[in-house]
Amino acid sequence: MTPNVRPLVAGNWKMNGTRASLDQIKAIAEGVKTPLSEKVEALICPPATLLYVATALCDDSPLLIGAQDCHQNKSGPHTGDISGEMIADCFGTHVIVGHSERRTDHAETDHLVRAKAEAAYEAGLTAIICVGETADERRAGQTLDILKRQLSSSVPASATAASTVIAYEPVWAIGTGVTPTLEDVEKAHAFMRAELVSRFGSDGRKMRILYGGSVKPSNAGELMGIDNVDGALIGGASLKASDFLAIYRVYEQLLA
Ligand code: 13P
Repeated sequence: MTPNVRPLVAGNWKMNGTRASLDQIKAIAEGVKTPLSEKVEALICPPATLLYVATALCDDSPLLIGAQDCHQNKSGPHTGDISGEMIADCFGTHVIVGHSERRTDHAETDHLVRAKAEAAYEAGLTAIICVGETADERRAGQTLDILKRQLSSSVPASATAASTVIAYEPVWAIGTGVTPTLEDVEKAHAFMRAELVSRFGSDGRKMRILYGGSVKPSNAGELMGIDNVDGALIGGASLKASDFLAIYRVYEQLLA
């Protein structure tokens, strides 16, 4: 955790979820109606097909709804893409950009990720910018170099603590059940904090840095307790309301 920074517990549903899954969103929206919501934000990023209905379900809940990607342009001939404006029009508040699955599946570069984050700002959305090394890069001892490059090239110069969340997701930890050691997470987050402070000053001090990659109820307490870990970006475990809420509630202990 970072002093005076409000943690964010975010779920990324990826390409999972149909209308039947809205029951899980309903249950999460109900489950986060607790005093804890004043101290910890909760966000679910369902597939774009569910965005508008999901936000309608959260009318009377502190649960926030976001998208998983946006195009760098506002509108135009880009078949299959959605823009930041469209996400905002559905009352989404956040958008994930630069997830490793998009960097890999769609060959997204740091430069493109930065343009997408800028498009998110323009639409009034908070950008969750993902970074993280692959298994090969880690084996080669390049983790911090990769983080340095991705942060400097993917995070726009105009980023602020309000408009931007960084998510550290070691690629090899995504969906594998394997997580880095607590020491490795601490080291990576401390490094990113120093990079952000040197570039953005006091905004860099307050910018949230989430950890993502095989976060589950059983390991969330120790991961979220690490210095400079300001929340989680959760894949698989966010699909089930009970698991997501169990992770969210680790902050009851951490903030007690
Ligand atoms: P898992 O929690 O399923 O490992 O996924 C992490 C992730 O990629 C979230 O964006």
